[in-house]
Amino acid sequence: MSERKRVPIPIRVEPGADLPAAERTAVLEAVNRHRALEGALLPILHAIQDRLGWIPPRALPLIAYELNLSRAEVHGVVTFYHYFRQHKPGEHVIFLCRAEACQAVGAVSLAAHAKRALGTDFHGTSGDGRYTLEPVYCLGNCASGPSLMIDRELHGRVTPERFDQLIGAGAAGAGAA
Ligand code: FES
Repeated sequence: MSERKRVPIPIRVEPGADLPAAERTAVLEAVNRHRALEGALLPILHAIQDRLGWIPPRALPLIAYELNLSRAEVHGVVTFYHYFRQHKPGEHVIFLCRAEACQAVGAVSLAAHAKRALGTDFHGTSGDGRYTLEPVYCLGNCASGPSLMIDRELHGRVTPERFDQLIGAGAAGAGAA
């Protein structure tokens, strides 16, 4: 008598089951708060990033499932807008203005200094995980450039020396050259 071949039963993995509990809660709260809105995806993504500081890639299947969208649709929106961060940021995020008025008063050399001091390019994080450096295009502080914002605190007329003071000179320990 021939043995019948066993066919494995596919195990259905619940979307978002592999997300850490705190992230899963943050995602579901954002979804539940905004799902009734027309075009709910963007406000949901903003709410998640405000809460977590980034959009964990493992959250995308859960968002897609909850909104009845395809994963590709959610992924397409997250990757289209550079504002949405797909990597966990450092403890603090520095938004350095790269718009024209700031560029005219030293933002270019400030950006070069910031990259050297932190040992990272834009969108990267210092080696000690303390600072993520992000470009931003106008912080509404054009008359007092160069401007930057650390987390939610705005600073104007920032020189390289002032930058070092703000981050605590050498504290980033990221291999300044
Ligand atoms: S151009 Fe930098 S704050 Fe407006």
